[in-house]
Amino acid sequence: MCGIVGYIGEDKALPRIINGLKLLEYRGYDSAGLSFVKDNKVFIEKEIGRIKNLEEKINLDENTNMGIGHTRWATHGEVSKVNSHPHRVGKWTIVHNGIVENYVSIKEKLIKEGYSFQTETDSEIVAGLLDYNYKKEKDILKTISKTIGELTGSYALGIICDDDLNSIYATRCGSPLIVAKDKNGYYLASDVPAILDWTNKYVLLDEDEIVKLTKDNYEVYNKDLVKQKKDIYTFEGSRNAAELNGYEHYMLKEIHESKKVVQDTFNYYVEKNSFKKTMPDFKKYKNIHIVGCGSAYYVGYIAKYLIEEYAHIPVYVEVASEYRYKDNFYDKETLVIIISQSGETADSLAALRKAKEDGIDTLAIVNVVGSSIAREALWTLYIKAGPEIAVATTKAFVAQATLLALLAIKLSNKTELLKEFDIDKELDIVLEKDYKRIAKTIYKHDNVFFIGRLVDYVLCLEGSLKLKETSYINSIAFQAGELKHGTISLIDEGTPVIGVCTKESIIGKTISNLKEVKARHAYVLLVTNEDIEDDFYNQKIVIPKVHDIVQPIVTVIPLQLLAYEVAKLRKCDIDKPRNLAKSVTVE
Ligand code: F6R
Repeated sequence: MCGIVGYIGEDKALPRIINGLKLLEYRGYDSAGLSFVKDNKVFIEKEIGRIKNLEEKINLDENTNMGIGHTRWATHGEVSKVNSHPHRVGKWTIVHNGIVENYVSIKEKLIKEGYSFQTETDSEIVAGLLDYNYKKEKDILKTISKTIGELTGSYALGIICDDDLNSIYATRCGSPLIVAKDKNGYYLASDVPAILDWTNKYVLLDEDEIVKLTKDNYEVYNKDLVKQKKDIYTFEGSRNAAELNGYEHYMLKEIHESKKVVQDTFNYYVEKNSFKKTMPDFKKYKNIHIVGCGSAYYVGYIAKYLIEEYAHIPVYVEVASEYRYKDNFYDKETLVIIISQSGETADSLAALRKAKEDGIDTLAIVNVVGSSIAREALWTLYIKAGPEIAVATTKAFVAQATLLALLAIKLSNKTELLKEFDIDKELDIVLEKDYKRIAKTIYKHDNVFFIGRLVDYVLCLEGSLKLKETSYINSIAFQAGELKHGTISLIDEGTPVIGVCTKESIIGKTISNLKEVKARHAYVLLVTNEDIEDDFYNQKIVIPKVHDIVQPIVTVIPLQLLAYEVAKLRKCDIDKPRNLAKSVTVE
């Protein structure tokens, strides 16, 4: 969701900015733009669509050593060139990631002061407000500090002021921003992959900090303009972790990394079948709330079944965008677990902050090191998935399911279950199956149903989400027993119904429901770990049977790969599905 890249240094700026923007493409965007300084003047270029459209328009060899670039994911105002960033008002040029919630009142105030605006965006008013405040403050840092004090909502801002064309300024609140340095200059970026071609060392800006970058220095201030000393982080993975390495799509590559992420996550917390110190003891908690969005919410549901079954601790799972606005019944004996791959999802971050404000202990389960959720939670447990580039999450889900299964074991004291994580062989089997043949039977349909019970139902939710987001097929997941209470009326001749049957205690019941839809001429596709020979299904994907604690890790992969193959047959933009963003930093 919106990406920011800035560069100032000895080298030509535009190739670096374009390179950084391309490395942030995975965040999702619909237009791109940049501004650069040449001969003491600010120039702006913008294009809708892919970054290559912008690249084709500009002269990469332009004699400029500083600039700021942006990919926009439209929130306020349609996708158009004029609404694309950068925005310029008076002496101020800005790029913005986030949402300024009070932009209407600021806009009205500025219009009364004689300002006029060209766009429908909330972002342009930030440039206007900077310009307005600067007339009184007459100092760039003071102006930025005053301006962000007047904004509500979330923002990461890259800023150029005409009165100091040798510096780039930036600030953030609620949207991420990092600063990095290589031997020839300084960078600004929304996320670490943007700088990996030049350096793996970076600094994380904290809320409301302001940074001033010049070609040979950077200074970070808090909002009272007191200089801050910053820690330097090192990105642990390799640059090619974010490359295709011969795969056709990142989604496929990332699914095929499942084995590694299970091993890496397991080995980070377990050694010789005992927990290491990296896994704290959470036994004092009598109940658990798990909060997340999308797939992170679904994996939380898997954890509910595992924790309740093995540790007998009640677990309530909630969608973050709801949790943040409702009465939550928690107390000192509650642990609130926030699950987020990116660690920046606005709703999940808000849910975390709400629990903290209420004095409740929080645990973050996060992939991106140093992300806001990781930094703000009382405890943080990292999954070891490495950079996930495809918008649809796959390997991070697998890593989360691994870590949550470990947590269930830790809470239950049943360390003998740790040996059940030896599932390399089983993962190889599900990764190597031919899903294209099955995808061909469903890719032309407009509606696909997934049914299952208990944990199988949660896997249906995830399989259905993967199918919807990557192939744009309408799909719903249903608790198998609920079908006949209404939804079965949608089943028609040839309607694909995917039945997930892995939980032994309940398989017979789901099979009865599959027989009901088959009797209504549905096209039944069975995903099972049992040896079922019958005539109620049209196709069958048989997956290896492993212990219940790790079965979801194995079962989700065929569902991910099926969605991938269907999306491919439908010629969809698999890694960057329309309208979606990787890091959802707005409400
Ligand atoms: C689905 C998907 C989303 C994310 C959700 C939460 O494939 O990727 O549903 O799971 O946006 O994102 P994080 O985990 O970054 O908080």
